[in-house]
Amino acid sequence: MNSQNNLEYSKYSEHAETSETIRILKEFRSQDIPYNRVLSSMCTTPHPLALKAHEMFIETNLGDPGIFQGTKKLEEKLIGMIGELLHGSEVAGYICSGGTEANIQGIRAGRNKMRDKIKDSRNPNIVIPKSAHFSFEKIGDILGVEVRRAKLDEEYKVDVSEVEKLMDENTVCLVGIAGTTELGQIDPIVELSKLAEENCVELHVDAAFGGLVIPFMNNPYPFDFQNDGVSSITIDPHKMGMATIPSGGILFRNESYLRALEVETPYLTSRTQFTLTGTRPGTGVASAFAVLHGLGFDGMKKIVMECLKNTRLLTEEMISLGFEPVIDPIMNVVSFKTEKAEKIRNELMKRRWIISSIKEPRAIRFVIMPHVTEEVIKEFLSEFRKIINWV
Ligand SMILES: Cc1ncc(COP(=O)(O)O)c(C=O)c1O
Repeated sequence: MNSQNNLEYSKYSEHAETSETIRILKEFRSQDIPYNRVLSSMCTTPHPLALKAHEMFIETNLGDPGIFQGTKKLEEKLIGMIGELLHGSEVAGYICSGGTEANIQGIRAGRNKMRDKIKDSRNPNIVIPKSAHFSFEKIGDILGVEVRRAKLDEEYKVDVSEVEKLMDENTVCLVGIAGTTELGQIDPIVELSKLAEENCVELHVDAAFGGLVIPFMNNPYPFDFQNDGVSSITIDPHKMGMATIPSGGILFRNESYLRALEVETPYLTSRTQFTLTGTRPGTGVASAFAVLHGLGFDGMKKIVMECLKNTRLLTEEMISLGFEPVIDPIMNVVSFKTEKAEKIRNELMKRRWIISSIKEPRAIRFVIMPHVTEEVIKEFLSEFRKIINWV
């Protein structure tokens, strides 16, 4: 099969591959909702190239790179490709479990580098936008950093003057988001970068979603390493990169950030490790590489353009039904104001259609991933029209 060895597990247990086992697996799996009824997820059906690559690398473990030397080199090649896309000339980083881990590592590296530079090294703080993903709550708890939340402007971008007000002599890192989870908005990274540089603090950009959307848009907003103040970027291939889960990405401006994360690894084939997890799959590397290399940046652009076209289609239909978008969609995420958001979401859920609702402002939210085709949108709208008059 996928294994390089032909280890015959069947000789240890006769029943391991019986049809009864498979029947149970199928029964549980059939209870999952198929992606073509999901208009809320930032993940999607993996690209066929990703599936093939996943299968080829299924037993790899990048936690022990001396054994999986080829997989490690492939990861370096992939990081170089993503680095090029993000305008970095000396980038370093790795493929991790997702945006949460990438955000933890971005902030952890920044905190470690800044530890001796702040006034009270026991009380570091970071300043993030109010719109930041909930992973930053975990970060505050795990890393022991105070998380200060800056207000947004009327377009739901972080207000840079509010960020400035919250900074003090113990600030280690600022955070900007390129593609907010709820609205797909892009923070003013250019201004945040200047602020970070002026104050000699780190700037982490959470582009978990937008990192593989914005570069393929016409006139892309400069959210990446072309801003001198940007020190790290989260960018997840298992979202718009159509890679298999788990495949998150953390990229740093240069290697010095990896050094700030390193611990010694006495019993492994490598001397040190800078990753958060120990054992980690090479499948995310292989599947992300397969998509980016196989489609090329031109192929990625075509897919992103199709998602943006479908986002416009859904938006126009929703406007004609009397719904107003919270902001004009920037990327393939769009939310529509309604006080009945949760009720609508629940009614749709009963019919096995999945959308999400947000609280500030109250709205229903859609993510138009590659699996949300024109056909899926039309089918969804016919169900949606049936319920909106009475909810
Ligand atoms: C902007 C942003 N950052 C981080 C994350 C967390 O990513 P993950 O769920 O892969 O940990 C998400 C998830 O949607 C996100 O939208």
